[in-house]
Amino acid sequence: MTLERTFSIVKPDAVERNLIGAIYHRVESAGMRIVAAKMLRLTKEQAEGFYAEHQGKPFFEKLVNFMMSGPIMVQVLEGENAIARYRELMGKTNPEEAACGTLRADYAVNYTFNSVHGSDSPESAAREISYFFAAEELCDR
Ligand code: PPS
Repeated sequence: MTLERTFSIVKPDAVERNLIGAIYHRVESAGMRIVAAKMLRLTKEQAEGFYAEHQGKPFFEKLVNFMMSGPIMVQVLEGENAIARYRELMGKTNPEEAACGTLRADYAVNYTFNSVHGSDSPESAAREISYFFAAEELCDR
């Protein structure tokens, strides 16, 4: 069995609506473990840096402003095939297209306030984990 780690965010809209516990429950029920977690509020520089690949897209400023609008939870999830499994659990970016039973179908408000983020590849996971966590903050479980 190959354990994989992925990076996830509970976004400001979900933190504001007290959905941290519900989302963590869904992650753990799906068989993934939380191996690091913290609450923080992104600065403009942090938000722009995190989403740098989207710079220049029409939604970039809206996305950055939303992600700075309130506290977020950032976590590292571990499990077999965790990157793809967490993407599946989240559902599609646009909640109107997200499959029933996914986090975004159940909790997202719209394309912007879509409650959760998850890495889309092993390369993104490595970059995103190290963007927020030092190696010693990840717990072996
Ligand atoms: S793309 O262009 O296909 O790569 O974009 P996509 O993967 O759909 O989305 C990338 C992130 O941008 C957010 N997004 C938006 N935010 C605000 N407004 C609009 N219209 C919008 N469109 C996309 C989307 O939620 C993705 O955020 P993350 O955190 O990666 O899920």
